[in-house]
Amino acid sequence: ETVEWDPEDAEKGSYDHYMLKEIHEQPVALRQTLHGRIDGDDVSLEDFPPGSFEGVDSVQFVACGTSYHAGMYGEWLLSKDGVEANTFIASEYAASPAPVDEDTLVIGVTQSGETADTLEALESARQRGARTLALTNVIGSTAARTCDDALFIRAGPEIGVAATKTFSSQVATLVLLAERLVRDLTGSPTDDHAARLDALESLPEHVEVVTNDTQAADVSQRCLGDNGHFFIGRGNAYSVALEGALKFKEITYGHAEGFAAGELKHGPLALVTPETPIFAVGTGHYQNRLESNVNEIQTRGAPVIAIAPRTASGLVDTADEFLPVPATHPDLVAILANVQLQLIAYHAANEMERSIDKPRNLAKSVTVE
Ligand code: G6P
Repeated sequence: ETVEWDPEDAEKGSYDHYMLKEIHEQPVALRQTLHGRIDGDDVSLEDFPPGSFEGVDSVQFVACGTSYHAGMYGEWLLSKDGVEANTFIASEYAASPAPVDEDTLVIGVTQSGETADTLEALESARQRGARTLALTNVIGSTAARTCDDALFIRAGPEIGVAATKTFSSQVATLVLLAERLVRDLTGSPTDDHAARLDALESLPEHVEVVTNDTQAADVSQRCLGDNGHFFIGRGNAYSVALEGALKFKEITYGHAEGFAAGELKHGPLALVTPETPIFAVGTGHYQNRLESNVNEIQTRGAPVIAIAPRTASGLVDTADEFLPVPATHPDLVAILANVQLQLIAYHAANEMERSIDKPRNLAKSVTVE
């Protein structure tokens, strides 16, 4: 007698879905991402020794989907240390590109290295004389081969259509790359570089604390909205708010939208009711302002779920539900909060028996424009 055996299922091990497996693989993936790349108070990036980016005067990120959110995170990291940076949706950039010259570094953030819109945007930049860099997971991918340079995120293969571990590894790689870029472009290390690099070394174990936390499963059941799910944050947490909403809509099919917390009062507040739970991502940056946004929401009766370190006590005390993340450098907290949001989306979708690894209408890699 033979037993039906599906090699893909076997690889999932004890996990019901690749997505859950990949969420739990993040500490291992991040250790690979960081391996050998932190050298005391400086970074050591294989092909990019000090001075590699001399002559560059500004950075443009081009990307799609989850990688676009990682690009936004990178833009925030560079801007706060005085490097001009902008992020573009690759399909928009391909159609109406931003001006570049030979001093512009255009970074394609693409897990697969094969997304057609991102490749087209990179090609447009290259033809107009910009320097191009692929930030990718796949050695030998089209982006890695066609850009001037490539920097690998080393997350390992990702099967689930909804990107999880590759986002964390992209952002961790961008923290390293930002350190090199800021030093080369401004002549000084990033503000607070020693503490941030120390915190980055601890990121895998901090992520592990979150992946071992079981509270997201319960909270996700209590916080399903009838009319929508909103995700808010400021700064680096804004990109994570967008990513949290994308993950939620991709796999639950429920309406979800991310906002810069300060934009609520300019329109989205009209949608806020007791049937629209709001996930608020706190990092320690801009804390008082985020707390006042939370108060505006609670006045309209919407439940607020805070995702933050316990040290963000003002936020933690006022929220209706609280999902903790370890306290670490505020530039990195949003990476940890994003892992809680991955778990929220996963458990909500699992309860609804959605096709988590292959959501309807979506593909892992979109190779058409
Ligand atoms: C598809 C995937 C997304 C991914 C996006 C960009 O839409 O479903 O998860 O974020 O492509 O992919 P890339 O490989 O360029 O990062």
